[in-house]
Amino acid sequence: MHDGAGTHRTHAVYPGSFDPPTNGHLDIVRRSAAIFPRVTVAVVVNPQKRDPLFSVEERELMLRESVAGLPNVEVEHFRGLLADFVREVGADVIVKGLRVVSDFESEMAYAHMNRALCGVDTMFLMAHEGFSFISSSIVKEVFGQSGDVTGFVPANVLRALEEKRTTTGGTHVDLPRHR
Ligand code: PNS
Repeated sequence: MHDGAGTHRTHAVYPGSFDPPTNGHLDIVRRSAAIFPRVTVAVVVNPQKRDPLFSVEERELMLRESVAGLPNVEVEHFRGLLADFVREVGADVIVKGLRVVSDFESEMAYAHMNRALCGVDTMFLMAHEGFSFISSSIVKEVFGQSGDVTGFVPANVLRALEEKRTTTGGTHVDLPRHR
């Protein structure tokens, strides 16, 4: 529990599906790394979204490559409840990005529940205005229809998407509307 007034948050967990990581995600990672001494990017193993395009290992690798220049950022994965993972690694803050007002409603419920479960607060960073319309889903949708997603994902993710198309013959997935 970290309820003490005036204490400094030292270890942030930034959770997500990251299927795949986008420049919007990376922007949140970089800004979090400038605020908190330690940031753990936490890839959920079984995202609520069905049929992830990338395996958890692939998602972790893409993230590791993308954050290689940030010495205070590490990448891990977790199963089950985020609150349990946060407790396990001893983190004292959860970081999330907010893009649009509709993100807020679901995130508010998550934040309350996570605080009830592990006593850790969630802090929100507003997505960079240039990335507020980018989600993993929309990237997959555009790429899957041969659209150009350069500029929306890091170069290594673009390569991974292209490889996925080559090896699987496509990037089609059932597209959730959110994230
Ligand atoms: O990138 P996403 O898909 O928006 O990330 C959602 C994520 C992984 C943060 C959320 O689904 C999550 O926390 N999943 C772990 C399961 C859990 O703890 N559920 C209850 C949240 S209060």
